[in-house]
Amino acid sequence: MIKKLLALAIATSMLSIGFVATAADKGPHDSAIKGRQAMFQTYSFNMGILGAMAKEKVEYDADKASEAAANLLAAANFGQSAMWPAGSDNSDPANGRTRALPEIWSTYPAVVEKGDALKKAAAVLAEQAGGGLGALQGAMGGVGKSCKGCHDDFRAEKK
Ligand code: HEC
Repeated sequence: MIKKLLALAIATSMLSIGFVATAADKGPHDSAIKGRQAMFQTYSFNMGILGAMAKEKVEYDADKASEAAANLLAAANFGQSAMWPAGSDNSDPANGRTRALPEIWSTYPAVVEKGDALKKAAAVLAEQAGGGLGALQGAMGGVGKSCKGCHDDFRAEKK
């Protein structure tokens, strides 16, 4: 009986912890924030595959490299108008977890230029990735720079 009560108490406290975590995550722009973060995760996933080959941690495979680079290029060309509603920056505590700085909106369209730089670099990478390890390696830097170029200005440091 005592064991059962204890189990119940633990289960209840876990539930309430779970509830607190979701409550903090219920902002007006959460779905847009999650949508753009999923896009960035897609960038990151494909860059991970390409980076591992470029650094020769994984054997180069032209088909896999081409596919990952094509995926990155596709994601870089997503239409993003619904992902960045005004007010969805990290200055409003009502928003769920986001590292999007208010400068994205206050200096608009500077951020668009950063996105265009990624599109260009990702197009070069998509052309080169299947053409051998050297070609892949040569095209990775441009993409990496375009990611960093936007993060430096528009993404908050991790807390
Ligand atoms: C045009 C600007 C821009 C470009 C280009 C860009 N990022 Fe980001 N990235 C951001 C912003 C802003 C955030 C924060 C989004 C948020 O938390 O709402 C972010 C967040 C992320 C995250 C965290 C996602 C999460 O789940 O919280 C990853 C990973 C990431 N970017 C990877 C990349 C990679 C890899 C590239 C290049 C291939 C890239 N980004 C290019 C602006 C950019």
